[in-house]
Amino acid sequence: MSVELQNHVAFETVLQHLDSGVLLFDSRGNICFTNQEMTRLLETSEEVLIGCSLLKLFRDQRIRRDFRSHMVHITKHMLRRKIQTYELVETNRHWLITRTNIKELDGYCLLTIKDVSQYKEVEQTAFAQDKLAMLGQIAAAIAHEIRNPLTAIRGFIQLLRPYLKAVGKEEYSRIILAEIDRANDIIVEFLDSSKPTKPEKTCIPIRLLLKDVVMLAESEALMRGCEIRFSEQGILDSKVSIDVKQMKQVILNLVKNAMDAICDSGKEEPGMIDLSLENEGEQLQIIIRDNGKGMNKLSLKRLFDPFYTTKATGTGIGLSVSERIIKNHGGSISVDSQLGLGTEFIISLPKATG
Ligand SMILES: Nc1ncnc2c1ncn2[C@@H]1O[C@H](COP(=O)(O)OP(=O)(O)O)[C@@H](O)[C@H]1O
Ligand SMILES: [Mg+2]
Repeated sequence: MSVELQNHVAFETVLQHLDSGVLLFDSRGNICFTNQEMTRLLETSEEVLIGCSLLKLFRDQRIRRDFRSHMVHITKHMLRRKIQTYELVETNRHWLITRTNIKELDGYCLLTIKDVSQYKEVEQTAFAQDKLAMLGQIAAAIAHEIRNPLTAIRGFIQLLRPYLKAVGKEEYSRIILAEIDRANDIIVEFLDSSKPTKPEKTCIPIRLLLKDVVMLAESEALMRGCEIRFSEQGILDSKVSIDVKQMKQVILNLVKNAMDAICDSGKEEPGMIDLSLENEGEQLQIIIRDNGKGMNKLSLKRLFDPFYTTKATGTGIGLSVSERIIKNHGGSISVDSQLGLGTEFIISLPKATG
């Protein structure tokens, strides 16, 4: 074999094994080369492709219908806008399609297609983390800014105390101080948890945690015309290893969102928030279901995004922080909702071992 021929065979073998799909069109617009990845992607054979023009490909029954309509769309798009690259997005998959006119081969055109789903995933995760990091910084700044004036108010109230006492109103200062302390606690608890702190875990039966949350939320629920029901059935003493404060905040957030959804629904029927627990192999599931207004597809897609809110006075922080806390516990959260009917959140947490 001549050196030239050897090289030719080597190049062709390399092209055959590329991880991108390749179609080379000659100057008449017919395919003169394709590789294994492309035949795999199109679920067809080299014999079908070689010698075909794009027009023929669009009509060839041996190629899957949805592929053909993709090809028509992409070709139109690339030709009309004279663009060289195109991103095709299918459920969970991203393809990058590139068209190159080869100068050295006058009139030849190379079309490559590459699966870039993995890069996209990395890009999206980086983007989400960036947003969360920003949220953490803003939260820390707000916490700092609010706590300073509170400290000043606290100091001045203490100074005023003797005067209040003189007019028989010492009780007022006690109330103000207690309320300031409470506000401070809430800020610290709520905003600190948006920083990526490591949970301080203790091992407790999950039902105790839910009982506490029900107790904390019950009076607000009553005022807002909702009933919280907690069925303890089945799982009595299954334990989880959690940061109790953080996880309480998570469930309280979800219960409060449920109350909001119920109040906004404008329904006649009584508002119900059902909390329940389920065993799921190595995981324990906390299920929070409401019969509120439900969500549309956009909300369902974005509700865990920092700052995403549909409420006039919402912050959009609750669910993004909750998701992070749950992830820090090695768990996950999922949601299912039907517009007008209600919503169900499921938190899965690993059971404590031993
Ligand atoms: N139980 C629910 N029912 C309907 N929509 C909900 C529910 N929980 C959350 N959402 C939607 O998700 C959005 C984000 O929630 P969240 O992060 O807690 O922020 P906020 O409560 O401040 O709006 C809400 O504005 C709402 O549109
Ligand atoms: Mg909320």
